[in-house]
Order: sequence, then C-alpha cells, then structure tokens
Amino acid sequence: MKFFVDTAVIDDIRELNDYGLLDGVTTNPSLIAKSGRNFIEVISEICALVDGPVSAEVASMDYASMIKEGDYLATLADNVVIKLPLTLDGLKACRYFSQKGIKTNVTLCFSANQALLAAKAGATYISPFLGRLDDLNLDGMELIREIRAIYDNYGFATEILAASVRTANHVKEAAIAGADVATIPPGVIKGLANHVLTDKGLEQFAKDWASTGQTIL
Ligand code: G3P
Repeated sequence: MKFFVDTAVIDDIRELNDYGLLDGVTTNPSLIAKSGRNFIEVISEICALVDGPVSAEVASMDYASMIKEGDYLATLADNVVIKLPLTLDGLKACRYFSQKGIKTNVTLCFSANQALLAAKAGATYISPFLGRLDDLNLDGMELIREIRAIYDNYGFATEILAASVRTANHVKEAAIAGADVATIPPGVIKGLANHVLTDKGLEQFAKDWASTGQTIL
C-alpha cells in the first residue's frame, strides 16, 4: 500500500519524506486554507520536495474553468496530479486530462457508482472519504470493499486512494480491503509506529544494557 500524506504543511512533508515513508502528497482547499500559504507557491514547493504524485485541487465548479485551472496547475511540475470533484463537470474534466496524459484524482467520492463513473472517465485515482461516511454512522470501509470488487471485475486501472483517514485502524482496514493508497494526516502516519509494548520492551532493554557496563563503539 502506498502512503500519501494529506497536508500542505511543508515541515511535516519534509519530516515524513526523510523517514522514507512518503509515496506522495494530497492537498485540498481546506488544507491550503489551514496552512495559510499561497496555493501555487506551496504546491510548487511540495513538488520540488517529493518525487511522488502531488494532488492539487481545482477551485472552480464548471468544466471550462476546471480545464483552465487544471492546465495551469499541470505546468507547475511533472508530478502534479489534478484533483477534481466528483460531479458531471468534474468527470468531463477528468476525461479531458486523462486523454492528455495528465494524472487525475477524483475526490469527494461517497458511493460505488460514483467510483465506477470516475474509472470510466479514466481517473488515475479515486478518493473515497472514509471518515466522513463514518461520521454519519455509515460504513466507509464497506465502500472501499465495493469499489475494489467493481474495479477488479472489470480490470479498471484507477487506483483506490482511501481518503478522510482519521485513525490507525482506518489505515489497517483500508489495507485489508485492498485500497491501493491511503492518504493520511501526518500525526496518524507517525502514530502507526507506536506500541506500548515496544516502549516497555525498549525501556527494559536500555536498563539491562546499562547494567552490563558495555558500549558497542
Ligand atoms: O483527503 C481528504 C481529506 O483531507 C478529508 O479528510 O478528515 O476532512 O474528512 P477529513
């Protein structure tokens, strides 16, 4: 499973990249607003920092404006992925970019039929939002399983990018359900390494090692 980080905070991206944990980055208008940064500047910086795909979302809702914005965003760097909303205009724009060989991420997916449409439009990635379905007492993970089954039935190449991931359990369950990618907040990625028994074991090893009076170097 590939890990993308879901943030526009450069320091977090740099830290995770240095750990070798990053396969890509996703952003959205809310994350850009939260960063307080200029959209174009921050996307250009992220693309220079990370080798993998970096999703940059269009702001317009109509096809013609999405095309203009996406064509411009695609000039920023070779690894920009154009993020488009799952609307009829967004799907039409997805078809346009996929025919031009520009990668796309179709976002705000909440149903298997929406995911089917995105695959038919040639999307590189489909982003089902797990956490937001769970927020409504629906089953976000069931959506991943449904999309996996549909894409496998027809051999669609569109990658399932589990989004709105909030917990370590979401990451594990999405991996079991066969998501190709998870886009995860920085804190959740780092938290995946934690286990209380790891901490306890290390504490004991450190104590016992100290009692030997030895050093390795
Ligand atoms: O990738 C989409 C994600 O940022 C949405 O997450 O937590 O706002 O539902 P959330």
